[in-house]
Amino acid sequence: MTQEAQTSAVPVLAASDVSKRFGSVVALQHIDFEVYPGEIVALIGDNGAGKSTLIKILSGTLAPDSGTLLMNGKPVKFASPRDAREAGIETVYQDLALAPDLDVPANLFLGRELRRAGILGMFDMLDVRAMRTRAQSHLDTLGVKIKSIDQRVDTLSGGQRQSVAVSRSVFWGRDVVIMDEPTAALSVAQSALVIELIKRVRAGGTPVVLISHNLPHVFEAADRMIVLRHGSRVGSLDPKTATMEQAVSLMTGALAATDLRAAAAGEADDRG
Ligand SMILES: Nc1ncnc2c1ncn2[C@@H]1O[C@H](COP(=O)(O)OP(=O)(O)OP(=O)(O)O)[C@@H](O)[C@H]1O
Ligand SMILES: [Mg+2]
Repeated sequence: MTQEAQTSAVPVLAASDVSKRFGSVVALQHIDFEVYPGEIVALIGDNGAGKSTLIKILSGTLAPDSGTLLMNGKPVKFASPRDAREAGIETVYQDLALAPDLDVPANLFLGRELRRAGILGMFDMLDVRAMRTRAQSHLDTLGVKIKSIDQRVDTLSGGQRQSVAVSRSVFWGRDVVIMDEPTAALSVAQSALVIELIKRVRAGGTPVVLISHNLPHVFEAADRMIVLRHGSRVGSLDPKTATMEQAVSLMTGALAATDLRAAAAGEADDRG
């Protein structure tokens, strides 16, 4: 999405002036963050920069100390991850994403199983067949290839498992899908599959927030990069014009956002 389109569009999800401390540790200070329709926005920064904390606030796991969240321009409050999910925000965490001993459809519908009336309409039963059919057609739509969806998830490869986790988030995430390190611990080939899948998610119209330490992935997939450092937003970069060196310099503090603006002559825009 172009810069002009962004300025006129209302963010699907935004954080405004959000701060969070853990005791004496300032994890986030006065953060503005926004995801526009149809974009993949990457959140990058060194270890401890505050990325996961921000994601946890956006996904209802943590409450901010101050600041507001907005969905489509309207203030929202999430008291739990469930609130955020019901509002249309799905989050893929790196681990604990799936139930290893269940098959693919059971994982896609975990906690949100389809049911049908049983004998005499009295006993509610799991509608296994409907879940299986819908799971298969959803994976087909996303181009996720798994030999048999009846396989237990712990028999899938790491990349396939991650694809199932991403597929599940897309299945339920009506408005925003957030992914914290979706390709960590995956091989090069498996990571490439997951990155392709994330791009298809965007093509399907769902905006994505992507956290990754893998800058080549970020440069390949993202439309915009927001850089955090020591809990502050230090810049926003366009992967089409910025270099990886500039991103690293911002992340490490070797380069200030103001220096970058001078260097890139307005191409990189610090919106923070
Ligand atoms: N529950 C907590 N209790 C105390 N401090 C915390 C807690 N969660 C995060 N922090 C601190 O807040 C800061 C930001 O942590 P966060 O996990 O958001 O970083 P991150 O950018 O996700 O790092 P990484 O790339 O290593 O995952 C760190 O200094 C961390 O130690
Ligand atoms: Mg983290």
